[in-house]
Amino acid sequence: MGAERIAALWWVMAGGALLIWVLVVGLSIYAIRVSPEAHGEGKARWLIIGGGAIVPTVVLGALLSHGLSLMPELLAHERRADLTIHVSGEQWWWRVEYVLPDGRRAVTANEVRLPVGRAAELILTSPDVIHSFWIPPLGGKLDMIPGRQTRLVLEPTRTGTFRGACAEYCGTSHALMALDAVVLEPEAFARWLDTQAAPAREPATPLAREGAALFLGHGCGACHTVRGTQANGGVGPDLTHVGGRLTLAAGTLRMSEAALARWIARPAAVKPGVHMPAFGMLPDGQLRALAAYLAGLE
Ligand code: CUA
Repeated sequence: MGAERIAALWWVMAGGALLIWVLVVGLSIYAIRVSPEAHGEGKARWLIIGGGAIVPTVVLGALLSHGLSLMPELLAHERRADLTIHVSGEQWWWRVEYVLPDGRRAVTANEVRLPVGRAAELILTSPDVIHSFWIPPLGGKLDMIPGRQTRLVLEPTRTGTFRGACAEYCGTSHALMALDAVVLEPEAFARWLDTQAAPAREPATPLAREGAALFLGHGCGACHTVRGTQANGGVGPDLTHVGGRLTLAAGTLRMSEAALARWIARPAAVKPGVHMPAFGMLPDGQLRALAAYLAGLE
């Protein structure tokens, strides 16, 4: 909503700039072509004062007062957010945490889901270097600065999936730090959020059960949390509902069992510089079991 107003303001500003440009260029051409005797000194002085000072002052003054008049409304919008989402930029993924009205917390990664027509306040932070949160179709970008909180209010007006990206160079895999914003109808959003806040599903197949045991046995839980199990690490993304996400590795791979197995075996081949260690020494059967387990965590 705010973004639409700002976009409209941009067009007004561009119109004003065009007006000044046409006047200045027109006067320049006139000044080059006119014969020196055409005007008396008095008239020439008025051309300079009028074209050089009065017209620009009037146009810039009008644009400034128009811009300032939008401020109270934009600020009022920011104050009444219906939903708070904490987003932390990490190297090179996004930690996303929803605080539900009943105090429960839902942690996910690399995608932000929003209800259409509601204002959501995003509180942006970073534990390492400066990142920048940007979903171009939804609104302006805002830096995520270590030791500080920045706030961005988004109020999407239509449903759909919108691609976002990190817009500040943050290290080796900056270019592979994308995210999806999924705008849902409010009921669908409420169902999704409820699922996210719940503990992980029990593995449903023998292969997935084997994967769950391997996940704990290989120490994956030292870095990753799967709520409802002993895995409670906080270094990497929360995997409680990883199988329900659209992508893996921050927008780098479409979510699938094959992508999960590939990622676990050789993460640095997908995302150079990644902090996740490679598990390519595991037999194929174990990789398939781990992938089946994680894909089932919807
Ligand atoms: Cu994070 Cu660039």
